[in-house]
Amino acid sequence: MSAPRGQFSSNIGFLMAAAGSAVGLGNIWGFPTKAASNGGAAFVVVYLILAFLLAYPALMAELTIGRHARRNMVQALRGISTGPITRFFGSLAGFGGILVASLILSFYAIVAGWMVAHLVEPFAGLFGASGAVEWLTGNSVGRNLTFTAIFSGMTMLIIAAGVEKGIERWSTLLMPSLIILLLLLIVYVLTQPGAMTGLEVYLMPDFSHLSPKLLIAAMGQAFFSLSLGVGTMLIYGSYLSQQESLPRLGALVTLIDVGIAFTAGLLILPAMYVAQEAGTQIFSAGGELIAGPDLILQVLPALFDTMGTAGLFVAIAFFALMVIASLTSSISMLEVPVAFSIENLGVPRRLATPLVGLVIFAISSAIIVNFDSLFGLVVSISTEYGQPLLGVALCIFAGWIWRRDQLLAELQKGHPGIENSLFWKIWPWYVRIVCPLLILTAFAQSVI
Ligand code: PHE
Repeated sequence: MSAPRGQFSSNIGFLMAAAGSAVGLGNIWGFPTKAASNGGAAFVVVYLILAFLLAYPALMAELTIGRHARRNMVQALRGISTGPITRFFGSLAGFGGILVASLILSFYAIVAGWMVAHLVEPFAGLFGASGAVEWLTGNSVGRNLTFTAIFSGMTMLIIAAGVEKGIERWSTLLMPSLIILLLLLIVYVLTQPGAMTGLEVYLMPDFSHLSPKLLIAAMGQAFFSLSLGVGTMLIYGSYLSQQESLPRLGALVTLIDVGIAFTAGLLILPAMYVAQEAGTQIFSAGGELIAGPDLILQVLPALFDTMGTAGLFVAIAFFALMVIASLTSSISMLEVPVAFSIENLGVPRRLATPLVGLVIFAISSAIIVNFDSLFGLVVSISTEYGQPLLGVALCIFAGWIWRRDQLLAELQKGHPGIENSLFWKIWPWYVRIVCPLLILTAFAQSVI
C-alpha cells in the first residue's frame, strides 16, 4: 500500500506555496533588469497585460487539470485523454514537463548557489577571513560545486518532508519574510542619493521600445515567472482541496507574482543608480545598463561596500531575500519529478527525493564544469523552447482533449455561482483558441 496523497492544509498554505513557486529569481532579478533594458514602464505595462491575458489563463489550465486528476503531469494528462493517441501525447508532454522542470532546476540551483555564497560572505568579512571572502566571491568551479550542493541539499530536505510539513510549512514561513525584507530594503535604498534617477528610468515609459521583440521577452518572462508549462502548478493544484475556488486562487497567485516583480523593480533600479552615484560603473562598454550576473554579483556588492556597517546588513538582507525567493521556487521544481517517482514508480518520498535530487545535482555539476558551453544552452532549451511548447500542450489538453463537462464541473467545485461570472463565459473558449494561438505566434516569431 502506498502512503495517502499529500494535501495542503489550507487555502493560505496553497497560496503561499504557489506564490512561492512563482516568486523567484525571475521576479527579483529577471524582471527589473528586463524592464530597464526594454523601455522601463513600457515593458512593465506590456508585461502586466500579458500576465493577466495570457499567463493567468494558462495557469488556470494547469491548476484545473491538476486538481481534477489528483496526480502528477504524466498521469493527469493520460487520465483526461480519450483515446490511445491522445494518451500517448499525454505521456509525451508529461515526461517533457518532468525533463524541463529538472533542467530548469539544474541551472537555477547554480545561480541560487551564488546567492548562498554571497550571503555567507559578509560573515566571513566580519571575522576578517580575507582568504575566505576571496573564495566566496570568486567564480571558481570548487566554490560553485560547493554552494550548488548546499542549495540543492536545502531543497531536498524540504521536499523530503512532504507537502504539508515541507512545502507548505516552509513557504508559509518564508514568503512573509521575503516581503518584509524586500520592503525594508526599498525604504533604505530610496533614501540614498541617486535613487530617484533609478526610479525615473524604471517608471518613465519609453514606448519607442515597443516591438515584437519586446512582446516575446515579456511573454517569456511571464511564463517563467508564473512557473508555467512544466507541471509545477499542476502538481500544486493536485494537492489543493476541492472546497477552494480555483479562478480566485489563480488570480491571487498571479497578482502576488506580478506585484512582487513590480516591487522588486523599485529596489533594483534605484539601487543601480545609487551605485553609480557612489562611483560604480553601471553601463557596459556598449552603453547598455549592466544586467545579469554582473549586476547582482558585482554592481550591487560594490554598492554595499560603500555603505559602511549599514552595508553589511543591507548585503545580508539582500542575499537572504535572493536565497529565500530561490528556495520556494526550487522546491516546486523538485516536487515535479519526485511526485512522479512516488506515484508512478512506487518509490517512497524519503528515497525518491535524494535520488532525483542527486541526478539533478549531477546535471548541475556538468554545467558548472562546462559553464561557457552548457549554461546558456540549458537555459535556452528549457525556458525559450520547453516552457512555451509545453504551455501550448497544456492549453490544448484543457481546451480540446479533456471532456468539456468534466472541465466545467471541476471549475464549479468550491465556487458556487461561477456560472454567472465573466470567467465562466470567457475562459473555456479562451484557453481553447486564444492561448495556444498567442503562445505559438510569439514562439514562431522568436524562433524565426
Ligand atoms: N517562477 C520561478 C521564478 O520566477 C521559476 C520557476 C520556473 C519555478 C518553472 C518553477 C518552475 O524564479
